[in-house]
Amino acid sequence: MSKPLIFVETYGCQQNEADSEKILGTAISKGYEKAERKQDADLIIINTCAIREHAELRALSGAGQLKHLKQAKPSLLIGMCGCMVQQEHRMEDIKKRYPYVDFVFGTNKLSSFADILDEVKASEKRGFFVESYQENPGDICEGMPVCRSSSSKAYVSVMYGCNNFCSYCVVPYVRGRERSRKCADVINEVKTLTENGYREITLLGQNVNSYGKDTGEGVNFSELIRRLCALDGDFVLKFMTSHPKDASHELIDVIADNPKCAKQFHLPLQSGSNSILKAMNRKYTREKYLETVEYMRYRIPDIVLTSDIIVGFPGETDRDFEDTLDIMRTVGFDNVYSFIYSMRRGTPAAQMTNQISDEIKKERMSRLLELQCEISTQKNQALVGKVLKGVIEGESKSNPKKWSAHSTSGKLIHFDRPENPDEYLGKFADIRITEAKAIMLYGEIEKIYN
Ligand code: SAH
Ligand code: SF4
Ligand code: F3S
Repeated sequence: MSKPLIFVETYGCQQNEADSEKILGTAISKGYEKAERKQDADLIIINTCAIREHAELRALSGAGQLKHLKQAKPSLLIGMCGCMVQQEHRMEDIKKRYPYVDFVFGTNKLSSFADILDEVKASEKRGFFVESYQENPGDICEGMPVCRSSSSKAYVSVMYGCNNFCSYCVVPYVRGRERSRKCADVINEVKTLTENGYREITLLGQNVNSYGKDTGEGVNFSELIRRLCALDGDFVLKFMTSHPKDASHELIDVIADNPKCAKQFHLPLQSGSNSILKAMNRKYTREKYLETVEYMRYRIPDIVLTSDIIVGFPGETDRDFEDTLDIMRTVGFDNVYSFIYSMRRGTPAAQMTNQISDEIKKERMSRLLELQCEISTQKNQALVGKVLKGVIEGESKSNPKKWSAHSTSGKLIHFDRPENPDEYLGKFADIRITEAKAIMLYGEIEKIYN
């Protein structure tokens, strides 16, 4: 008899992608096989995100599209999980408006997924396995089977949750307080990955550089990186996301001194205005941020710097916004992920009375995008003629005629499909850059590492 098929649809950040790999791995260990298309699946799980309204609407619309699949195949099991389902009002929505969703489990229930699946299969009723973080502070998912989506790049969660409570953000409510994995567990996982040919390891956490504060092991994030870089093998180590208040000189020194560390830093700025940073509860000033960037550029002159910026936070004046554009010009980020502020229920910023109109938010967003496009293009053009090392990923997701690689510093490069693809896939290569656009580089492979 053929095995039942599972399909996992993931919204949101890398943390969710890493969780989905565990969901898939667990289901496979319980007799399922991965479906290539959701139409073929016997079990579909939607792993949701709540960071902005748009993310929630996409996940809900993803769920809505399953109604007809369920009608065509009543035995289909549909589950929902992830950050969105941790919110009471969204749970009510799912219970009432999505009756074909058979079960829901929260982010603090991930490690019990195997038991949840057994219970759901044995029961005729819908199952809601959702508890708030007050009821269940969540654990650390150790030892779950993982079905990785790539054989060259791997995500490794090193900590869960967030203690920062930025006033706009839902994450601390839907992911709970910071919990770090034991250092030995992280090292063993990375060691196994590199021994199995993984070339790029990305350490994940909502605030990775506060790793270790709760373990009592005396190993902070910088020390964890030092220990990981001491492992054998040819691999590059990346991490995300760092909070500027915890981006210490010690951490920057570790990156500068270890050739295995990607010369890349994603350091979310959010705003260039001190009064907005204060209202956001970010706990740093623009001066402190600029000082951190200055030290990074001093220790690692060719570092690739990226950031997140929110446009239209409550009370943001023209002057505040100009401060943001100004700091973008001063720093010259390689790339910026910019977001229109989205009101999140239960967060302090949602109570603020000075919300900004959609019209102003959109107008500011387009000005910001225009400026960043100019800066990114200039940054990329300076790379023409240079050689970047990167991991070859195969056919490009955005242009099937080309192949792609991400450089160790995080730049996306397109190049012609090699004639003997098997000799290239998943390997490190030196790529000479021949042409540059704002978010894309084009190049030619110069050397392949075996
Ligand atoms: N923990 C990470 C980022 C998590 S969310 C950090 O602190 O850097 C990723 C990005 O989404 C944030 O950096 C922020 O720019 C954006 N974001 C978070 N909440 C948002 C909201 N309510 N509206 C718009 N953007 C938001
Ligand atoms: Fe959200 Fe701030 Fe925590 Fe990042 S650091 S997850 S923005 S609360
Ligand atoms: Fe979204 Fe949750 Fe990540 S809210 S951004 S999936 S931590």
